[in-house]
Amino acid sequence: MLDPRIQAALNDQLHHELASAYLYLSMAAHFEAANLPGSAKWMRRQAREELAHAMRVFDFVNDRDGRVTLQALAQPPGQFASTVAVWEQALANEQNVSAVIHDGFELAHKAADHATMAMLQWFVTEQVEEEKTARMILEQVQQIGPTSSAMYFLDRHLGKDAEERKAD
Ligand code: FEO
Repeated sequence: MLDPRIQAALNDQLHHELASAYLYLSMAAHFEAANLPGSAKWMRRQAREELAHAMRVFDFVNDRDGRVTLQALAQPPGQFASTVAVWEQALANEQNVSAVIHDGFELAHKAADHATMAMLQWFVTEQVEEEKTARMILEQVQQIGPTSSAMYFLDRHLGKDAEERKAD
């Protein structure tokens, strides 16, 4: 049986993973409207990945004889001031998710809940990659500026990247 505090922390993480999927889907819609189809594809792929993260937590809570509780999802932002603003929010979101995961890991560590620590270790490692990727794309977008042809080159690259990750 899961410690109720750890169960609450995992349900909170599950909520953040689902909210991330919702946010990235909204960002995909923004990029579709901005004629940046590669970036839109990248965000759609990311939204699917967040759903997979959520289900990883969902399954773990059930496997440990815990109880999943779903929270209401807030409406994500529908408008973004610029392409840079989108990637800034994506990075801030990943940093926030990392903090939630680290809090859960700390709790599991204090409770000597080794199974939860082992499960969350995967997420700790994954977040290093997620933050790195968002930070890298943000820096590239900041460097090239919104109207330069380099933005279309980057957009094509992100679309290709999303295609390759689909095959993972
Ligand atoms: Fe599942 Fe991007 O955090």
